[in-house]
Amino acid sequence: MNWTRKHLLDIESLDAGEIRTILDTARAFKAVGERTIKKVPALRGRTVINLFVEPSTRTRISFELAAMRLNADVINFTAEASSLKKGETLRDTGKTLEALSADIIVVRHSAEGAPHLLSRVVDCSVVNAGDGAHEHPTQALLDTFTMFEKKGDVNGLNITILGDILYSRVARSNIWALNKLGANVTLCGPPTLVPRIFEQIGCRVTHNVDEALADADIVNLLRIQHERQRLSAFPSIGEYRSLFGLTNERFARLKPDAIVMHPGPINRGVEIDSEIAEHPRSTILDQVTNGLAVRMAVMFLVSGGKTFPEPSE
Ligand code: CP
Repeated sequence: MNWTRKHLLDIESLDAGEIRTILDTARAFKAVGERTIKKVPALRGRTVINLFVEPSTRTRISFELAAMRLNADVINFTAEASSLKKGETLRDTGKTLEALSADIIVVRHSAEGAPHLLSRVVDCSVVNAGDGAHEHPTQALLDTFTMFEKKGDVNGLNITILGDILYSRVARSNIWALNKLGANVTLCGPPTLVPRIFEQIGCRVTHNVDEALADADIVNLLRIQHERQRLSAFPSIGEYRSLFGLTNERFARLKPDAIVMHPGPINRGVEIDSEIAEHPRSTILDQVTNGLAVRMAVMFLVSGGKTFPEPSE
């Protein structure tokens, strides 16, 4: 067991051993999810609050379900119906949730660093569920978990991340995780969304999609983050698809055992042709399923969990 942290704020500050500890723990929790009794008492009596200040389907629901599977009490905080609308600060909101006995606050926020700020002002655990364009650590962990499941390991594999890298927290967290675990990471997309500066953290950068796909064992597609782009980074959706989309024609030229990943939500006919999303070599829904086990593992570990518990009666 290589875990002593109270929070999960990013992947950048983790080492490979800590990442592997989360993945190993998630494997045990995935096995629990395949039993008749899918719950364990690991967080019985604890309170998890999902503080989502940005929209989410997959992350919020899987954190909620993960907390339930751990037997925690769960509260979903809805920003639109909260006192944030009356001008309450994130700090004061966090302190208020702590005064109501929160043990873990799971936070998604449009501001980079919001979970880090919260972790400095509350005593409970904070888990980052996505902060602006900075990081989305549990997404990278569930992506990596899925890669291990499909390929055995990522060490030495060629992994292409294709799309909007500049504004993507998923890309940043994946890059940190994959670099630490020994994968060869290629980034591809329009030059406005994939600057060469990423070469400085050990990635290959190319703006030629055929070159990026030719030797890929795994292709991880990202949607265009319209909500974060200050200016239009390419002329039209049609042009994006023809130059950088994973079309059926490009898919046919991939290595025969290459898998296609996407964190969701997908934009069919833009970054991915619809048929590919349904293809047996697409792992999009496996990723969603694996998010549950990964989030159970993260909440178990930040709560001080050491010995994997038996399921409750
Ligand atoms: N992948 C992801 O974070 O999806 P949601 O925005 O639906 O949570």
